[in-house]
Amino acid sequence: MWGGRFAGGPSAIMREINASIPFDKALWRQDIAASKAHVDMLGAQGIVSAEDAALIAQGLDQVAAEYEANGVPENWDLEDIHMTTESRLAELIGPAAGRLHTARSRNDQVATDFRLWVRDAMDQAQLGLKQLQVALVSRAGEHAASIMPGFTHLQTAQPVTLGHHLMAYYEMIGRDRSRFADARSRMNRSPLGSAALAGTGFPIDRFRTAEALGFDGPTDNSLDSVSDRDFALDYLMAAAQCSLHLSRLAEEFIIWASQPFGFVTLPDSLSTGSSIMPQKKNPDAAELVRGHSGRIVGCLTALMITMKGLPLAYSKDMQDDKPPVFEAASLLALSIAAMTGMVAEAKFRTDRMRAAAELGYATATDLADWLVRQANIPFREAHHITGSAVKLAESRGIALDQLSIEDLKAIDQRIDDRVYAALSVEASVAARCSHGGTAPDEVRKRVAQARVALGLEEQA
Ligand code: ARG
Repeated sequence: MWGGRFAGGPSAIMREINASIPFDKALWRQDIAASKAHVDMLGAQGIVSAEDAALIAQGLDQVAAEYEANGVPENWDLEDIHMTTESRLAELIGPAAGRLHTARSRNDQVATDFRLWVRDAMDQAQLGLKQLQVALVSRAGEHAASIMPGFTHLQTAQPVTLGHHLMAYYEMIGRDRSRFADARSRMNRSPLGSAALAGTGFPIDRFRTAEALGFDGPTDNSLDSVSDRDFALDYLMAAAQCSLHLSRLAEEFIIWASQPFGFVTLPDSLSTGSSIMPQKKNPDAAELVRGHSGRIVGCLTALMITMKGLPLAYSKDMQDDKPPVFEAASLLALSIAAMTGMVAEAKFRTDRMRAAAELGYATATDLADWLVRQANIPFREAHHITGSAVKLAESRGIALDQLSIEDLKAIDQRIDDRVYAALSVEASVAARCSHGGTAPDEVRKRVAQARVALGLEEQA
C-alpha cells in the first residue's frame, strides 16, 4: 500500500508486531458499513463517478458476503481489516477499488469503525442489564416480605427483607445502565472525514456520512477525532464499574450458598461438582463473575496506560486499544448473563434466612427505638439500656424477646409488656417504612415503580 517510498520489505518481526488483523477482523461489519457510507458520499459529491461508486458498493457487499460465509482471511502482510478489505475489493473489481480511499485515511477509518463497534457493545450491555433488572425485580416482588438478616461488617445488624436486598442491586444496575447511556450519547459523533489528521481538501460531506452511520453529526476537530479514544475508555469505565457490582452480587450468592449460611440453593445449570468430593456443588459461575471483574478492571487499566502521554494525533500505540475492549466486552456479556440466570433461577431458602434473622439480636435497635418512643428516653441512653439487655440475654443464651418482663424491668423499670410487640422480626421490618426502607409495603412500592420503568407494566 505504500511500496512507492520503500526499497525493501518489512522483516518478519515487523510484519508480526505490526499486524492487527488477528484481532481487528472483529471490526469487519463496521469497516464495510463505514466504507459504504464513504463511497456513497464520494459519489454524491462527484468526487468519484457514479459508476465507480456503484461498482465499489457492490464489491463491498460481495466482500461482506465472503466474510460472512468464510470468515476474514488473516494475512499479516495486509496488516489490518482496512487493508484486507481494500485488497480483496481490488481483486474483485479491479483498479476502481483504488478510489475508495480518496479523502480518508486509516486513521479516521479505524476511529470510525471502532466507535461503531463500541456503540454496539454499549447497546448490548444495555439489553443484558435490563434483563438482569427484570429478573431482580421479579424475585424482589416474590420476596417483598421474606425476612433475612441484614448485615453490616457481615455481622447481623437489623432484619431486612430479601426483596429489599435484591432491589438494592436493581438500583446499582440502573446506575450502570445510565453510565452506558451517558457514554453512548457523548461518543455518538462521526470522526469519518477527518482523514489522516488535518481534514481533507476534497469537497466531502461529513454530515451525510455521519447520518448514514447513525451518528448525531460529525466531530468538530480532525486532530482530536483521529486521536480520541475517550469513547473506548468511557465504555471500559462503565464496564469496570458494572463488573464491580456484578462481583458483589456474585459474592453474596457464594456466601449465601455456603452450608453454614444455606440461604440459597444455586441452579444446577450454573454450578459444578467436584471430581473427588461427591457432596460438593460449587458456585463456579459466581466465582468466575467475581474473578472476571478483576480482568475487566485490568482491561481499563491497560487502555488508560496506553493512552497516557500520547501526543496528537494518531500513534501506532493506539492499535492496542482493541484487545482490551474486546476482552472486556465478552467477559462482561458472560458475567451479566450468568448473574441473570442465577437471580432468575436460585431457590431462596426463606426458612433458613428467617431463622438466621432471629439470631444475633437483630432487633436490638427496635428495643432502643421503643424506649425512645414509648418512654421518651434519649436515644443514647436507650442504646445503653438495650446493650445491657443484650448482654443479659447473651449470657443466658436466649433471644431478646425470651427475657421475662421482670428481667427487663430490672434493667430499666420504664419497660413494660408492650415492648414484646416491637421485638419480633416482622414488627422490626414493618416499622422501617421510611422512603427507601425495608418495610414490605415500601419494597412493594419500589417494585411497582421499577416494573413501570422497565416497561413490564403500564403506569397505574
Ligand atoms: N491498524 C491500525 C489501528 O488499528 C489502523 C490505523 C493505522 N494508521 C496508520 N497510520 N498506520 O490503529
